Amino acid sequence: MSLFITFEGVEGSGKTTQIQRLKKYLTRKRIPCRVTREPGGPPISEKIRKILLDPDHREMLPLSELFLYEASRAQHIHEVIKPLLKKGTIVLCDRFNDATLAYQGYGRKIDRGLIRRLNRLSSQGIKPDLTFLLDCPSDLGLKRALQRNRMSKNEKEGRFEREKIQFHHRVRKGYLAIAKKEPHRVKVINTRTGEKKVFEKIREIVDEQIGFKESRVPGFKWKS
Ligand SMILES: Nc1ncnc2c1ncn2[C@@H]1O[C@H](COP(=O)(O)OP(=O)(O)O)[C@@H](O)[C@H]1O
Ligand SMILES: [Mg+2]
Repeated sequence: MSLFITFEGVEGSGKTTQIQRLKKYLTRKRIPCRVTREPGGPPISEKIRKILLDPDHREMLPLSELFLYEASRAQHIHEVIKPLLKKGTIVLCDRFNDATLAYQGYGRKIDRGLIRRLNRLSSQGIKPDLTFLLDCPSDLGLKRALQRNRMSKNEKEGRFEREKIQFHHRVRKGYLAIAKKEPHRVKVINTRTGEKKVFEKIREIVDEQIGFKESRVPGFKWKS
């Protein structure tokens, strides 16, 4: 019994906030879950993350960026996600394949067919059961992200937060196009309503999924 849930959305849409809330909720219910992120996860992928997000790397080519994301994912899937899912843990992942399609495809304008193929290769047959697309206007998200960065000492402005607003508009449009294509998997949640209301929706959908999964295995019950 496992569930792979990904969180997507533009900078500042509330992914990290909602993942933490969901982790707390599942932990309270004694449902084994783990939080991880892309790019990142295992040590090799966390090193790749540093290269990708370093604002000094102004000369990085879109294609190099794409390959680094895919390399980070291949390692992440192999070392972290696959083993966790095998153990029956719920995996909550901050960004995944859809982010590569939205940022490198719609944002950087790299051929989307190529990205889909690379995504399939790097994710090695693993697909999210459920994806939350936390949607908000890109300028609002950016405003939140910049404010968050100012308030925390660790996070400085990243390579993506510095991109032009048109880039972020394209990313949001890309995300919405992905959701339209796969409405069963991708749940779009409007995040203009505040953190608590957003979480209520997420909780409702996750509860439903867990119930659904339970009902497919006779006699199985999550501890609660
Ligand atoms: N629904 C929301 N409404 C208003 N502010 C929010 C909402 N969700 C998150 N925030 C705030 O916006 C900032 C960015 O949220 P964060 O979870 O870090 O976004 P992300 O991980 O998607 O970049 C944080 O300061 C957070 O408290
Ligand atoms: Mg975040």
